[in-house]
Amino acid sequence: MSTRIAIIGAGSGYMPGVIRGLLHRAADLRGVELSFYDPDGDHLALMARLATAMFAARDADLTVVAHTDLKAALDGASCVFTTFRPGGMTARHLDESIPLSYGVVGQETAGPGGFLMACRSVPVLLEIARLADPGAWIVNYTNPTSIVTDAVARHTDAKIIGLCDQYIGDTEMWADLLGLPFDRLEADWIGLNHATWATRLRLDGTELDLTSALDGLEIPDGGATPWRDPSRMASLAKALGLLPNSYAKYYFFHDQVVGELRDKGTTRAQDILAMLPAYYSQIAAEAAKREPDPNRDRGGGEHGEFAIDVICALLRDERRRFIVNTRNDGAISSLDADATVEVPALVGRSGPVPLVMGPLPGSVRGLTQAIQSYERLAADAAATGSRRTALQALMAHPFIRNKETAEQILHDGLAAHAAYLPQF
Ligand code: G6P
Ligand code: MN
Repeated sequence: MSTRIAIIGAGSGYMPGVIRGLLHRAADLRGVELSFYDPDGDHLALMARLATAMFAARDADLTVVAHTDLKAALDGASCVFTTFRPGGMTARHLDESIPLSYGVVGQETAGPGGFLMACRSVPVLLEIARLADPGAWIVNYTNPTSIVTDAVARHTDAKIIGLCDQYIGDTEMWADLLGLPFDRLEADWIGLNHATWATRLRLDGTELDLTSALDGLEIPDGGATPWRDPSRMASLAKALGLLPNSYAKYYFFHDQVVGELRDKGTTRAQDILAMLPAYYSQIAAEAAKREPDPNRDRGGGEHGEFAIDVICALLRDERRRFIVNTRNDGAISSLDADATVEVPALVGRSGPVPLVMGPLPGSVRGLTQAIQSYERLAADAAATGSRRTALQALMAHPFIRNKETAEQILHDGLAAHAAYLPQF
């Protein structure tokens, strides 16, 4: 039987990028059958049409079968790629606005917003882990990817690897800021997803002196976008003595960000909701063409290529180096051995083998350990539906400074998302 890859969440707006990623490895994936699944039948059919047309335009030997039944989609798949958001952007709007109403950063993955998303995502992932073929690899993009990966790793027997392409974009941002060529630069990002740090940088394989690079770094003025905030990043790097991940601003500029999010007036989810109809109609128009060229407004960059490269490394035993979310096993000595960490690893048939990285830098060690405590509690709460564990998770989060705030956010969040939270 030919190799089968299931894509769960195949109606996602990120699919055009995933299809591009499949095309970029089409020669290595010859004969593979793709099982697309999404509960949204219209978006599922659209992406199946788009993929089929894009494969035909490039003579790629890949076939697509669309399923509306999860079990059927998973059947026979040796790799299950998960990329979905239960509740869509409407639920994300609540994740972003409920914490903010209590003076806490409202963000889809960081802080209590990410906690609420984890509570919706984890039960679906546990179900997938239960239904998938034993031995199948789950390659997970569903956010918050570290908590989801941790819940599956510690609450099921399934094999899972968690992905986030943020480190690629962040390495590019730092290459720009430090005036270095991105394509020759490699950084060892270590920590937890969306809370990683780099102190080791190599140019063409030769280690750079980060301290002197940071001493010479000028803090640029402005230029902030939702994903790039060069001025804050540069000032933070100089203060911490390392390169921080883009999400570090939520920890180190928490109160300013709360003010900015309030002043902005709309959530990121609302902004995306406003652009989605035009986005999907452009894709529908392209899917009908002989040579579709869907827009790159969502999940552009390396998003799809990265995921498909990791899948190829697993299926073809390539032992390639990627930064992924996996069981620590001592790679980062400052974090628990059984924690899910984000770390450079060699990925082959038997999964990711994390590379030994030593301790976290002192300037962020305590913070990262606190986030790790929170994530473990969050994964356990999302998997079991324990309200006490849920409250402990929120009380352990560095954004939250009062028990009452944790209680209020938990109360509002569980009520608002009740339809997606069978475990509570
Ligand atoms: C980055 C993060 C992802 C996150 C995405 C959200 O790429 O690494 O984890 O899902 O941003 O982007 P959006 O355009 O939906 O705000
Ligand atoms: Mn991410």
